[in-house]
Amino acid sequence: MTHIVAIAGSPSDNAKSTELIRRVFLQLEEAGFTTKLLSVRDISPQELIYGAEQDSPNLKKVTQHIERASGVVIATPVYKAAYSGALKAFLDLLPQKALAGKVILPIMTAGSDKHLLAIDYALKPVLAALGATHILNGFFVSDERAKRDQFGLLSLDDETEQRLGEQVELLTASLSLSSQQEIEA
Ligand SMILES: Cc1cc2nc3c(=O)[nH]c(=O)nc-3n(C[C@H](O)[C@H](O)[C@H](O)COP(=O)(O)O)c2cc1C
Repeated sequence: MTHIVAIAGSPSDNAKSTELIRRVFLQLEEAGFTTKLLSVRDISPQELIYGAEQDSPNLKKVTQHIERASGVVIATPVYKAAYSGALKAFLDLLPQKALAGKVILPIMTAGSDKHLLAIDYALKPVLAALGATHILNGFFVSDERAKRDQFGLLSLDDETEQRLGEQVELLTASLSLSSQQEIEA
């Protein structure tokens, strides 16, 4: 069964970007994929800032899940016109080519559309440095289009919901293609 992991890059414990991952997972699980949510919060602040030992149990768990996965969803808020510093600290702990051979779906939440291109100029280059060669266009949403309702649930407008669904479909299609190519090779 094809395994997909997500890395939640927001340090916030009630993050919109993490909730978007859960929505993406619902769609992926319905399509028969197995999923695992990883988060920058899985690694202690101490390890994130000062570095983790290679035998750190938390880091081992994270790297093993990423190794097993064919697809990786990476979701982060825009912080200061780029991805979160916590995500960078997390990615810095991974092996040099941790994302090689995986299909990547980047997701970004932001305060406004001003930093719409942050996926392209900030997030994608660091993913490429980790060996990713198959990175989908990705999904960007501002707080204006991803609001919390009176119960605190995230609500997306129809157009935004549709755009997210389309990115998930692209991810599943790309994964099927990759596994077909592996079988034929
Ligand atoms: C420290 C910090 C820096 C931020 N910088 C930006 C920014 O440069 N551009 C922007 O559009 N939003 C910025 N925001 C707003 C967040 O990106 C936005 O609220 C996002 O939806 C939060 O996502 P999350 O709930 O997944 O953490 C910033 C928020 C914080 C806390």
